[in-house]
Amino acid sequence: MTRTSVVTGAASGIGKATKQLLEQRGERVIGADIRDAEVVADLSEPAGRAALVEEVRRLSGGSIDAVYAVAGLSTATVATVAVNFSGTVATLEGLRPLLLGSPAPRAVLVSSMAALMPSDEELVALLTAGDEQAALARAEILAKEPATTGRLIYASTKLALSRWVRRHASTSQWAGEGIPLNAVAPGVISTPMTADLIATDEGRVGLLKAVPMPLNGIAEPVVVAQALAWLGSVENTHLCGQIVYVDGGSDVVLRGDSVW
Ligand SMILES: NC(=O)c1ccc[n+]([C@@H]2O[C@H](COP(=O)([O-])OP(=O)(O)OC[C@H]3O[C@@H](n4cnc5c(N)ncnc54)[C@H](O)[C@@H]3O)[C@@H](O)[C@H]2O)c1
Repeated sequence: MTRTSVVTGAASGIGKATKQLLEQRGERVIGADIRDAEVVADLSEPAGRAALVEEVRRLSGGSIDAVYAVAGLSTATVATVAVNFSGTVATLEGLRPLLLGSPAPRAVLVSSMAALMPSDEELVALLTAGDEQAALARAEILAKEPATTGRLIYASTKLALSRWVRRHASTSQWAGEGIPLNAVAPGVISTPMTADLIATDEGRVGLLKAVPMPLNGIAEPVVVAQALAWLGSVENTHLCGQIVYVDGGSDVVLRGDSVW
């Protein structure tokens, strides 16, 4: 049977590469994005999140095999909180019922190695508690100083996402239903999100100081797509709540022996 997958963020970068890869492998892929996709939906808003679920239900006939929640923003804005954390969780929770009819249901999201960077404890706590309104209000305060506190927003959303995966993967809703729930945490990937940062030698050197990638350096989006595709494949039966760093080594350089 042809697998049907949903990929958010399918219009660009890692999401686009994931959609292309899955299609090359013979899957049916329903792409979702705020633009240029089968399902056009704004994941920063509750209405857009609900529209995503309804449209996927309609296009799939009510059953899908895998969800790849890739859409994200990296700006020092409130929207980054709304899309990266709340939009991603709503995608996974909203589409979970459609996975239940699959013989091999899978769910994967894209976090980031940025989860290891300085973050705002209060914002992470509010996201972890599922209080979107309070989290957005906190982000509004942080965003007022884009060069300092604003920079904590992206890392905070990704830390909260990685934590969400760890906390939910083993529950009755996911593991209990036979759905492996996992994440990838990319290092620096060459996509429109990072294009300005890596356009110059100086930018690249500066970024790789913060995100050391001794193994093969900055990666193309297909590298992350391949890891995502495996996590969402029939072959993945027992990975549960793992954050797979596809980062050229930044995690081991930065954290060394502190995780095992
Ligand atoms: N590029 C990197 O170095 C890198 C590193 C770590 C993690 N990531 C993560 O990978 C994911 C994909 O990023 P990318 O590098 O491919 O960036 P990208 O900008 O190329 O793609 C992101 C996609 O998300 C979509 N999107 C943004 N806001 C949306 C909204 N409100 N509703 C629906 N879709 C929306 C965009 O339209 C775009 O197509 C993101 O979650 C990002 O945080 C990227």
